[in-house]
Amino acid sequence: MIKIGILISGSGSNLQSIIEAVKAGNIAGEIVLVISNNAEAYGLTRAANYNIPTKVVKHDDYSDRHTFDQELVKVLKESQVDLVVLAGFMRVLGAGFIAAFPDRVINIHPALLPSFSGTHGQGQAFAYGVKLAGCTVHFVDEKVDHGPIIIQAAVPVLSDDSEERLAARILRCEHKIFSRALALFCAGKLQIEDRKVKISGVDESQLDDQFLISCPVE
Ligand code: GAR
Repeated sequence: MIKIGILISGSGSNLQSIIEAVKAGNIAGEIVLVISNNAEAYGLTRAANYNIPTKVVKHDDYSDRHTFDQELVKVLKESQVDLVVLAGFMRVLGAGFIAAFPDRVINIHPALLPSFSGTHGQGQAFAYGVKLAGCTVHFVDEKVDHGPIIIQAAVPVLSDDSEERLAARILRCEHKIFSRALALFCAGKLQIEDRKVKISGVDESQLDDQFLISCPVE
């Protein structure tokens, strides 16, 4: 069983959906630890509701990013974590952290990477005026929001959208693709070749002739 450590900073709705997917038996893993850099994060309560061990590691308590990263690595290794999941974790992890978990850190980003990386991906996409926004689950490498992409989903922007409504629909979509990507990882179905993630054993025939177009077309 893959031991999963989840890093959060806030509400933890993605964490909640992962907990539920694990409980439902859809992810062949065990969440052994939830870490937050923010003591007020509601996600800590969500984890505690399921008796999942939690820990607060505040970035402010460390003199620089390297020492913060090293503390995270220490805590995760103490719990023998195999896979690190960033579920709304709003700190950038350095190369030292990534080297401690090679190809074993997975992040969710609320935009279609490589567009709109960084913070507030949904807001950036909305302000830009894209017609298809979306979300991305990807492996984490040394560069921000850059590692090999596992799953993406497109979310149409509606003409009367607000940034908040769009972000809420993207979030619902995040919950679907994040658990799916983690299930594939835990089932050993993901292989990275030349930065492309190959997914084995899935039937893509239904995708063959599929398009998502942002305006109804006859
Ligand atoms: C999610 O929208 C996630 O994609 C985003 O933070 C939100 C966390 O929500 N992550 C990033 O922007 C990372 N750069 P949640 O706490 O309810 O899961």
